[in-house]
Amino acid sequence: MPRTLITSAIPYINGIKHLGNLVGSQLPADLYARWCRLRGHEVLFLCATDEHGTPAELAAAKAGKPVAEYCAEMWAVQRDLAEGFRLSFDHFGRSSSPQNHRLTQHFAGKLHENGLIEERTERQVYSHADGRFLPDRYVEGTCPNCGYERARGDQCENCTKQLDPTDLIDPRSAISGSTDLEQRETKHLYLLQSKLRDELDAWIDAQTDWPILTTSIAKKWLHDGDGLQDRGITRDLDWGIPVKRGTEDWPGMEGKVFYVWFDAPIEYIACAAEWVDAGKGTDWERWWRTDRGAEDVRYVQFMGKDNVPFHTLGFPATIIGSGEPWKRVDYLKAFNYLNYDGGQFSTSQGRGVFMDQALSILPADYWRWWLLSHAPESNDSEFTWEDFQRSVNKDLADVLGNFASRVTKFCRSKFGEEVPSGGAPGEAERALAERIDAGLARYAAHMDAIEVRKAAAELRGLWVMGNEYLQEAAPWAVFKTDPERAAMQIRTALNLLRLHAAISAPFIPDACEAILAALKLERAHMPAGADEALAALPPGHAFAVPENLFRKIEDAERADWETRFAGTRT
Ligand code: MF3
Ligand code: ZN
Repeated sequence: MPRTLITSAIPYINGIKHLGNLVGSQLPADLYARWCRLRGHEVLFLCATDEHGTPAELAAAKAGKPVAEYCAEMWAVQRDLAEGFRLSFDHFGRSSSPQNHRLTQHFAGKLHENGLIEERTERQVYSHADGRFLPDRYVEGTCPNCGYERARGDQCENCTKQLDPTDLIDPRSAISGSTDLEQRETKHLYLLQSKLRDELDAWIDAQTDWPILTTSIAKKWLHDGDGLQDRGITRDLDWGIPVKRGTEDWPGMEGKVFYVWFDAPIEYIACAAEWVDAGKGTDWERWWRTDRGAEDVRYVQFMGKDNVPFHTLGFPATIIGSGEPWKRVDYLKAFNYLNYDGGQFSTSQGRGVFMDQALSILPADYWRWWLLSHAPESNDSEFTWEDFQRSVNKDLADVLGNFASRVTKFCRSKFGEEVPSGGAPGEAERALAERIDAGLARYAAHMDAIEVRKAAAELRGLWVMGNEYLQEAAPWAVFKTDPERAAMQIRTALNLLRLHAAISAPFIPDACEAILAALKLERAHMPAGADEALAALPPGHAFAVPENLFRKIEDAERADWETRFAGTRT
């Protein structure tokens, strides 16, 4: 049985994610996890919250809560929303877990032993009013690159330039607003990534099947400018993983914590340990250590494109540098951005539709279908309410929903609520089976390749085949002269509906469950081919007409949502 390890980039703890975040990692990762399970793989699908760093501390301060309490609450909120969207994680962990503390300190210890960590004295912004150093976003000021006045210490939101807090002009504290700042010397740990450059370069070169979007970003960071930079992996913050090497204290590093981007990816591993400690699994090393069975695991990561450097270089540097046999990523799927109605989704500005809002207006499947069938793969893509309405009404209601209701209702009225027997399939059914086989093969190929939009288009094509077949076969007309044949046609169509429920579940799990429940089936496997699929439900098998699977979005509702979500969230 193939084994597949799947991780989604772990979302920041500070606030509810918008639909652009969702479609950039968690949702396609779920699609793929469900697909692999359907194909009979043993799957471990992990995600977690990314809880450290200044964004978490600032958000907690804004909410007026201790940061640990804030994180615990927001973790539960994100977990519930993930459940609402039917994200089928085997475990939803936390980067602040004791397991991640231990592992992060372990990695730092190994990197130190291997001569890959250096202590450097550097100048950092210190605030007299706050009585502390101000790393990253704790400093705001004017961007030296574009003059934007509200640039943050880690990056300018306006021109996207990566910054250091000491670069800012007219700096002020993001905590107190104080400008009584100075640059003071302090010691930090640097990971000497540059020493690993050749190894990383060779490893990236060996990934011949990775998408260009991924390898080109990695290559750019390896070769452009000064090449791979050594990176500071510690910060002067209270909240985070205390700097230790293994279980030992690190002299000179008292009171400091690891940088969030150092510990966050390690949570991918720690999360598997959390999964075991939560009693959901028995052996996590079998997934993560190539000396304990993970050499035959295929590891696939999902993320937005801004995350690619950390996953192709930063995290690999950590695990390669440890000198230990950790599993490395086999395939990395990155996404472009989803825009919102002529602009960008923005968490800081509250622009767009957020996960909780989406679920408050429509069930998960509607969103899953639109988002996945419009996933920003080769380009950025854009959410508009009009397109959402069109896609839901056409694909879900008119095509799949209508087929399900037509065939079950017609059968009930003419043959009762069980699969009719009828005679042997004829020419039209053989032609249908051929089309299905070809469509299924294309669908499976796209799903295996994680070509999300192409897979959605093929799936829709398979739904369309149902309506086309009914249209051509016209059992309502045939019934008048040849009820035997009409019965066979309906039996064929009911089986096709069952096939739809089996293969569409990665996209729209709730609707598929409703179809299966109506067909009085517990589950449906991926069929070997159309002949098997079209004969799966035997004559006499009882069913019920499913509740209306999808409702249409009315113009008035669409217009209402358009205005409701035009502004910014407060
Ligand atoms: N929290 C980051 C983001 O949302 C992703 C972290 S991924 C990990 O962009 F690798 F660091 F875990
Ligand atoms: Zn700027």
